[in-house]
Amino acid sequence: MQFDVEEIRKDFPILNRKVNGKDLVYLDNAATSQKPKEVIDSIRDYYMNHNANVHRGVHLLSVEATDAYENARIQISDLINCPNSNSIIWTRNATESLNLVASSWALDNLTKESNIIITNAEHHSNLVTWQQVSEKTGCDLRYLNISDGFDLSDFENLIDEKTKLVAVTHMSNVLGYVVPIEEIVPLARKYDARVLVDGAQSVPHMPVDVLALDIDFLVFSAHKMLGPTGIGVLYAKLDLLEDMNPYMFGGDMILEVTYEDAKWNRLPYKFEAGTPNISGAISTGVAANYLMKIGMENVWEHENSITKYALEKFRELNNFNVIGDNVTQRRGGVISFTHNKIHPHDIGTILDKQGIAIRTGHHCAMPLIRSYGVVAAARASFYIYNTLQEVDQLVEALQDAEDFMV
Ligand SMILES: Cc1ncc(COP(=O)(O)O)c(C=O)c1O
Repeated sequence: MQFDVEEIRKDFPILNRKVNGKDLVYLDNAATSQKPKEVIDSIRDYYMNHNANVHRGVHLLSVEATDAYENARIQISDLINCPNSNSIIWTRNATESLNLVASSWALDNLTKESNIIITNAEHHSNLVTWQQVSEKTGCDLRYLNISDGFDLSDFENLIDEKTKLVAVTHMSNVLGYVVPIEEIVPLARKYDARVLVDGAQSVPHMPVDVLALDIDFLVFSAHKMLGPTGIGVLYAKLDLLEDMNPYMFGGDMILEVTYEDAKWNRLPYKFEAGTPNISGAISTGVAANYLMKIGMENVWEHENSITKYALEKFRELNNFNVIGDNVTQRRGGVISFTHNKIHPHDIGTILDKQGIAIRTGHHCAMPLIRSYGVVAAARASFYIYNTLQEVDQLVEALQDAEDFMV
């Protein structure tokens, strides 16, 4: 499909609204994306026409709801080239997917002899989770520093035969750096370590192929990829899921129950206790389809051209500093920046007056942000519906902020 940003924008009703009297310029996509009409309509259609509980009824509505829920699992499999949809577990978000792996796999497989490697640029969800596993099992938590870019020899120096898990972000939500998973996996295999990829920022923006990458676990959230909030995905290799015990118990995850005992259901239901987010899953499938129709290569290229353009524009501004701009590393559409004198929150407020939505704060990566000698940064992040003209609007508003405040 030909990528036509103006056509794509027509699919997003929210882009027509005014914010503080101005056209909305939405540049907070790393926090959450906007939703196309198809996704919004699918939620309404589910509740208007098909609402019933899944897997439990013989009546038509329940069959329709179940078929749509399971079809969404196949659509997600297609998006990440997963060969078997039983490898797809619905969760609430990337964070819950990480907690599932921590509780159902890591606590059973790590000891005080083991170690986990993560990077220094992880979102808190892929950091605090492993800190907790380390606290509970006594295993060592090691940090691969990628502030100056990913360096394979640093990784080689860190990994050893006691490494059981390498859990890394695919794309940093602060630096925008893309971590080369294809370089990590072969080395991890050599040491028999499992690889978990935090795809919260990559799956929405670039082709991610779990087969080609040969990763063990992948986690991501629907709300950052045009889908609704409250639903996320865990992909894991089938043999791992077969061996793992559930960490949530209740309805749907059992096959047989007596007063004494219970047998777990087959995959993927073993990990989906209780009534799931049915409309959330269905509309996530619609979001995945929407992205696949555009083509993930096209999504990546569009965002790449916007980011390159934005970085060049930022370099022309006085007193603004893009974090990590001096580093040569493949990067996605996330630009975090500070100003020599203006606090990021003030930048955010000034931009909001112009209808421009960016994020300010520590971006759930407190230790990383602090390592740059600041406590907060402003962040602009792009998606399929953003335009070069919106970058110009951002840069003009920043220039005005500088003229006004300094
Ligand atoms: C890199 C990364 N990992 C994980 C998460 C957590 O996602 P969620 O809050 O949807 O669970 C985020 C959210 O910003 C993120 O950017």
